[in-house]
Amino acid sequence: MSLRRVVAVTRIADVQQLAQSVGQQIFVADNIAEAVDIVQTVKPDLILFDHHFTPVHIREFLDTTYKNSIDIPIVVVGEDENDIDYTEEFKKIGILDYLRGRQDYCRLEQIAGHIKEQCKAIDNKKNFNGFFAEDLAASVSLVGKSHAIKNTLKMIKLVAVSRCNPILIVGETGTGKELSAKAIHALRCPNKPFVAINCAALTANLLESELFGHVKGSFTGADRDKTGLLELAGTGTVLLDEISEMPLDLQAKLLRVLQEKTFRKVGGTKNIACSATIIATSNRNLQKETQNNRFRRDLYYRLNISPITIDPLKSPERREDIPLLAEYFLKTSTICPDKQNKITSLTKMAVEVLEKYDWPGNVRELRNVIERAIMMETTDKIGLSSIVIDLMECNQAPKCSINGYFKDFSLEKAERELICRALRETCWQKTKAAALLGITRATLYAKVKQYNIKKGSYIDKESQDEVLDPLMPEPICTL
Ligand SMILES: Nc1ncnc2c1ncn2[C@@H]1O[C@H](COP(=O)(O)OP(=O)(O)OP(=O)(O)O)[C@@H](O)[C@H]1O
Ligand SMILES: [Mg+2]
Repeated sequence: MSLRRVVAVTRIADVQQLAQSVGQQIFVADNIAEAVDIVQTVKPDLILFDHHFTPVHIREFLDTTYKNSIDIPIVVVGEDENDIDYTEEFKKIGILDYLRGRQDYCRLEQIAGHIKEQCKAIDNKKNFNGFFAEDLAASVSLVGKSHAIKNTLKMIKLVAVSRCNPILIVGETGTGKELSAKAIHALRCPNKPFVAINCAALTANLLESELFGHVKGSFTGADRDKTGLLELAGTGTVLLDEISEMPLDLQAKLLRVLQEKTFRKVGGTKNIACSATIIATSNRNLQKETQNNRFRRDLYYRLNISPITIDPLKSPERREDIPLLAEYFLKTSTICPDKQNKITSLTKMAVEVLEKYDWPGNVRELRNVIERAIMMETTDKIGLSSIVIDLMECNQAPKCSINGYFKDFSLEKAERELICRALRETCWQKTKAAALLGITRATLYAKVKQYNIKKGSYIDKESQDEVLDPLMPEPICTL
């Protein structure tokens, strides 16, 4: 797995060779000043330092390059296991990895692979630039053109380049809070760790020990020391998902961390510095939660300094993002590799229907609906009949109705419709239709009989989106 450019800050031939094993072009620097110059000029994918460079030297290098908005993964190559162990210090300043000696050299290949994947994601993103609200210098991108999403993005950028910490992101489920958190991380400290924890998913005790870590023997079952996420993140980012679900006593402890920038492990006596950016997300109205005494008011004020809000898809300000998001998911989905690039667009009717729906599950639900449509669709355009809305995602079923389009649906109806369409596509040549459906001829016969399908009982192709054949039973959740 070859990277394009690697800078090796070393005079050691072995380390230069190691750089060559993972890079196409290698640039060698003798000292920090030279390294800064070279890195600024060639913008490498990876920088290697040898064991002569201590955390203090590398900090100096980082301070200079960060000022110029350069943030490139760094690996330090130690000499052998007898070197001073700087693992912790390196972690704190955000070094990607520390190879203690030759026995660790093989790890570089893996690291290079990972970096390559990230570079690919960035390149890939360039191909889809037309979809993004703005061209963020990161591999994470938010699709949308509405004022609402552009404003959200403006806030993301402002907050990311500021020192604002903690950061609060609020929005309904599936609106892209985690994606926004990753965007902030990518803008602020892309090569540092990003760790996330869902406050709703763990018991109070587990959550506390995940977050702060614990010392051996601090409670039954704590049979060894554990490093918490706040420490693991180093100078990276900790995402506290669904912060409203955090128990009140833990909220108090978190507030202390935010104010004092230090914490203690469960059962520990040592203060540990917390240098990570803390991002909290919530799909509940935290102010209301404070009124109901479910969320600490002081923590709410501490979090709510420059909140980032993401509007739901149903809001009039975001409706225009729906077709763009649908098209983006269609173009980027890998759910049916054999159909990739074959389904080129959505019919006008399908888009209209997507625009009218309320999307209680927001962008996540839209992506799921498009992926399902890709699986169902047998033509080169996603039509109405492939758009299936999952009733389970609607809390209020009646609200799902879109101007009378929405009917009931079932798997059987979906199957019947697909069979009808395959038969139509193949002019009732059953062998071809069976092949299209990926079933045997015998199964096709059985299904035709089971569903009592007769010639003509399908949607007329010419008017597929507009008129449904009267003989056709209600298509699956035809929107
Ligand atoms: N603007 C967007 N552009 C592209 N993809 C998006 C956008 N917003 C959300 N998504 C996608 O929608 C899905 C849900 O997003 P995400 O997990 O960030 O939502 P969330 O607000 O954290 O949801 P929850 O509250 O349920 O945790 C993800 O696959 C994400 O990539
Ligand atoms: Mg989330």
